[in-house]
Amino acid sequence: MLGYIEAINLRRSIRNYSKKQLDSKLIEKINSFLKAPNIGPFGNKPRFILIEKPEARKQEKVRLGTYGFIDNAAYFIGGCIEKFEFSEVDYAYSLQRIIIELTRLNLGTCWIGGSFNRKDYQKLLKTQENEVIPCITPLGYKASKKSLRERLGLVLTDGSLRKDFNTLFFENDFESPIIFNPNESYHLALEAVRKAPSAVNKQPWRVLKIENKYHFYLKRDSVVGKTKTSDLQKVDMGIALANFKLALEELNIQGKWHIADPNIGDLEYIITWIA
Ligand SMILES: Cc1cc2nc3c(=O)[nH]c(=O)nc-3n(C[C@H](O)[C@H](O)[C@H](O)COP(=O)(O)O)c2cc1C
Repeated sequence: MLGYIEAINLRRSIRNYSKKQLDSKLIEKINSFLKAPNIGPFGNKPRFILIEKPEARKQEKVRLGTYGFIDNAAYFIGGCIEKFEFSEVDYAYSLQRIIIELTRLNLGTCWIGGSFNRKDYQKLLKTQENEVIPCITPLGYKASKKSLRERLGLVLTDGSLRKDFNTLFFENDFESPIIFNPNESYHLALEAVRKAPSAVNKQPWRVLKIENKYHFYLKRDSVVGKTKTSDLQKVDMGIALANFKLALEELNIQGKWHIADPNIGDLEYIITWIA
């Protein structure tokens, strides 16, 4: 089976699914991941459900939204978390870990933040007043044939493009980039951040290393920003923190999340990893 770093490198947004059903053993395994969600770096835990579209539609009378860009998905993972300032970070931290486990099982996923019908998911998750649904993902095997949309060239541009390492990660101040060195374990963890998916591929994460501390910041994009229902760039941050932590776990490196804002620069401080 793939390691975490390999799975992080291999994962791509899948928007065209095979109609193949998932067998019951696999469903059981997926449910076991969903039942044991990770606690986020801010200490909160989401809850998730696996939704099988035909069944859910029959039983709960939901339409399960119009997925403008997703073809043939028969399964979805939905989830919710109690609302607080960093709910999107904790939610995404937990879901990204699940998504990487699913990638290791050769399953395709795609973070969906905008175009889904939240009402259906509120019904299926039986959400409380104070719970939010930041994102969902379809789930399944990637289709072997291209969809009509893909053949017509109507799909999003190549999602594999990422900003250069030395434009995202800095040491001591935001003028001094870190130069990637594959022999440095922490550089491999930062590389896992760089590979993270983000809304509209904006890659808003920046990291400032000072001594044994890695301070994570958001460089906000005015286009993506916050919607009424969810702060997608905080979701991006949660995903990046999960990739960082998964890489460190694989490399057997310990540390902890902490609030330790060094009050440097104009970017939006989120959290610090203390090595
Ligand atoms: C928070 C978030 C929201 C996203 N929302 C959507 C969406 O609504 N529709 C969609 O097709 N892709 C969505 N994506 C997928 C991104 O476009 C994709 O991750 C990015 O372009 C990088 O491509 P990759 O995932 O293949 O590496 C979203 C990704 C994130 C992280």
